[in-house]
Amino acid sequence: MSLWGGRFGQGPSPELMDFTSSLAYDRQLGGDDVTASKAHVRGLGRAGILSNEEVGILVTALDRVGEELQEATFRFQAGDEDVHTAIERRVTEMAGDAGPKLHTGRSRNDQVAVALRLFTKRELAQVAREVVALQQVLLDRADAANDAYLPGYTHLQRAQPVLLAHHLLAHGWALARDVDRLWATVRRADVSPLGAGALAGSSLELDPTGVADDLGFAAAFENSMDAVSDRDFVAEALFDLALLGVHLSRIGEEVVLWSSQEFAFLHLSDAHSTGSSMLPQKKNPDVAELARGKAGRLIGNVTAVLATLKALPLAYDRDLQEDKEPLFDSVDQVRRALPALAGLLATATFDTARMQSAADADASGASVDLAEWMVARGVAFRRAHHVVGVLVRESAERGVPLAELVQAHPDLGSEAVPLLEPGTAVLRRTSPGGAGPGPVSEQLERFRRLLERDLERLSN
Ligand code: ARG
Repeated sequence: MSLWGGRFGQGPSPELMDFTSSLAYDRQLGGDDVTASKAHVRGLGRAGILSNEEVGILVTALDRVGEELQEATFRFQAGDEDVHTAIERRVTEMAGDAGPKLHTGRSRNDQVAVALRLFTKRELAQVAREVVALQQVLLDRADAANDAYLPGYTHLQRAQPVLLAHHLLAHGWALARDVDRLWATVRRADVSPLGAGALAGSSLELDPTGVADDLGFAAAFENSMDAVSDRDFVAEALFDLALLGVHLSRIGEEVVLWSSQEFAFLHLSDAHSTGSSMLPQKKNPDVAELARGKAGRLIGNVTAVLATLKALPLAYDRDLQEDKEPLFDSVDQVRRALPALAGLLATATFDTARMQSAADADASGASVDLAEWMVARGVAFRRAHHVVGVLVRESAERGVPLAELVQAHPDLGSEAVPLLEPGTAVLRRTSPGGAGPGPVSEQLERFRRLLERDLERLSN
């Protein structure tokens, strides 16, 4: 069945159907279409356009369709162009004279948009909950790490020792911004487009605000043309998911590095690593690599939708059908990546002894502490930096321990030598937000409270 039969002498060609149908992927909007269609029908009832009896018949038929979709007994037909067409066809088969009244005052343009907004709101909230679950793993591991420390890196060169908890929470805070962004996108998507019709509204006394309320939207659209052509919420969702994916890729990359024999800071559990089909000894961090690799397609998806939206004239254009596959794909990929990475991190073992010996291997990790010690005694930082730099160079060139040179230097001397003791530098990171035990314990508390707040606001 095509929806526009009257105007056309011939049905659509198979080539057209093959090219334009979105049924293969928009089936997953079936449940949301049923929900929105029921609200639409109730709105038509309140407006006196449908009788109570007709409303009852249509809602019952839509509920049936919902069950059939849920149980996968719904039978799609060759002529079904998309899931919305299929649902209307099926309702018409079941609802007698009321069936052809379902689409009163509605277009697929507002129908598709409302279903996609319901999908986006629900899925992004679920993604955000799964991000919080990953953050909880980071928090638990950070808590359990106590005073373990490792080298902190810049340029992937050892820079200064940091607490392991501090390093783990650095990823946790990036994820906190993702949760915030997802939440903000959900709020902006929370506008119902139903009642916009094809582009200009209707001559019938529709009640978009009542329908929006019924569907749990915060508001109804202000402008019918904007309502059917706006896909900002899709682009934003895809950006949020891409940036989240980028954050997961950075965690993934560190897991790959840390679990290499060269670092050996991390040992993956068997259940969360893979073997080699040829090399019996291998244990590979495939989850972490895919967490890194998936970022590519997530970035591709946001790019694809932005390119589709660019320069599209108002209002609805069929190009907009291209919004769905990227969105479904990004949601799907991220929802698989998050629990996989959470499981990997929850079960991996940190080799804290190895981390600590890497941090202690070279006393020059404390070199800024020597300079700051001089600063506390009135030496200008730039001069102090130079003095210590010369000592570090001499130590490396002559093979003399740094401590000996510090001891002998007139600006430093024996009082400064303990600064080079293993484990001392990290204790001296006392400034707010810094990598030492004092600020990190405050950070852990703040992070814990943030997770509680986020879980609370995501709980409904
Ligand atoms: N499947 C289409 C979409 O996702 C349905 C909208 C078709 N609307 C139209 N006016 N041809 O956008």
